[in-house]
Amino acid sequence: MQALDSYIDSNRDRFLSELLDLLRIPSVSADPVYKADVVRCAEEVKKRMLEAGLEKVEVCPTAGHPIVYGEKILDPSKPTVLVYGHYDVQPADPVELWHSGPFDPVIKGGMIYARGSADDKGQFYMHIKAVEVMMKSGGLPCNVKVMIEGEEEVGSKNLGVFVKANKERLKADVVLISDTAMIANDVPSINTGLRGLSYVEVEVTGPNRDLHSGVYGGAVSNPINALCEMIASLHDADRRVTIPGFYDTVNELSNAERKALAEAPFDEEAYMKDLDINAVRGEKGYSTEERSSIRPTLDVNGIWGGYIGEGAKTVLPSKAFAKLSMRLVPNQKSEAITKLFQDHFVRIAPPGVKVVVKPHHGGEAAVTPIDSAAYQAASKAMEETFGKKPIPTRGGGSIPIVALFEEELGLKTVLFGFGLDSDNIHSPNEKYGVFNYFQGIRTIPRFFHHFAAQESER
Ligand code: BES
Ligand code: MN
Ligand code: MN
Repeated sequence: MQALDSYIDSNRDRFLSELLDLLRIPSVSADPVYKADVVRCAEEVKKRMLEAGLEKVEVCPTAGHPIVYGEKILDPSKPTVLVYGHYDVQPADPVELWHSGPFDPVIKGGMIYARGSADDKGQFYMHIKAVEVMMKSGGLPCNVKVMIEGEEEVGSKNLGVFVKANKERLKADVVLISDTAMIANDVPSINTGLRGLSYVEVEVTGPNRDLHSGVYGGAVSNPINALCEMIASLHDADRRVTIPGFYDTVNELSNAERKALAEAPFDEEAYMKDLDINAVRGEKGYSTEERSSIRPTLDVNGIWGGYIGEGAKTVLPSKAFAKLSMRLVPNQKSEAITKLFQDHFVRIAPPGVKVVVKPHHGGEAAVTPIDSAAYQAASKAMEETFGKKPIPTRGGGSIPIVALFEEELGLKTVLFGFGLDSDNIHSPNEKYGVFNYFQGIRTIPRFFHHFAAQESER
């Protein structure tokens, strides 16, 4: 492992500048304006994979953004790790709130500021560098396959198609993903679960055209008022979601499981201070950590309609819109929950408005085992580089493909994330620690080493 660490040390500057170059490409998957940049990013990832020593590297076209795939097979009888990551990023807006350009990376106070620095370019690139490091100092201990997609932030629809069509090519023993966060740099942890997602857009229509709010106001349904009433009714006084059937299939954790999760350190005062809020709020009977990981939720992500320009315009709008996300937990099925929402939302419409619910993407929740050889290898690797055994924790975000890897390929995942919740992913001023980046590059080869050793013993 010493050869490995010294190789990393002597290539430190290059490893950093290569990441910064990748961060300069605005590979925003949601916005068609960036389509050419997304393709350019895929080509760049392919180049980097080849340079790292991967073979059969290919930019695979899909009905949407391309997937980059490469592998290094030493010996088919050796175990195989399938690394997954995403090179696409979230839109940068609101751009005016960034302290430096979202695609103009700068390093300040030990942090790399740029859209995608933590989610997920900085994290998947650690794996490409780890492959290079292993190949240049002692060799790979087992086979590796690397698949980096361009549509994670928009639901991974075409990756699902690709996985189903490439089962043989993707055959492996475990999936390794760095796209989650740890508790703190001195409190390493490994996510053992992800939530699922149902994402919907709603359109509420009142009168057939915008109206003078004095002439008509008070006599007809205002779609914005109606939408607000409807949204407000989706939670009760205990902050539980009121959609009938919403909790029916929820996997309730046992008291022992809840107790184990509560052992992870969490400072609620610091949490509130960081967010500048004077109280936390959520489902009655659950802690903040539970509310943000093992419980399902419903949130408005955006809402619009009517006049939002300068000054005042007295208008009663014809339409109102909102985008909502529901985070789901194991055993809640995304499609079924979307249907429950759809039926309920149409049913609760007040008189005088029409409601249309348009489902967007979704995904299923996933839990990963902690008694597997792969988890044990990850735990040992982190213990070596952090000097502390990582704590298993449940995460609140979603990576829909994880459930699909299990369903289609029969593979379990290790969520080997090195980010922090404070990295501002999906927010202005997204950042990733230089420490975290190199810690990942140091830790990943140790995972390969332990995983290969354990598998060959079996
Ligand atoms: N990397 C995140 C997911 C994540 C973040 C998991 C933090 C755990 C902790 C991923 O890129 C993401 O943002 N996923 C989307 C889902 C997708 C369907 C748009 C999400 O969670 O909103
Ligand atoms: Mn991500
Ligand atoms: Mn993301």
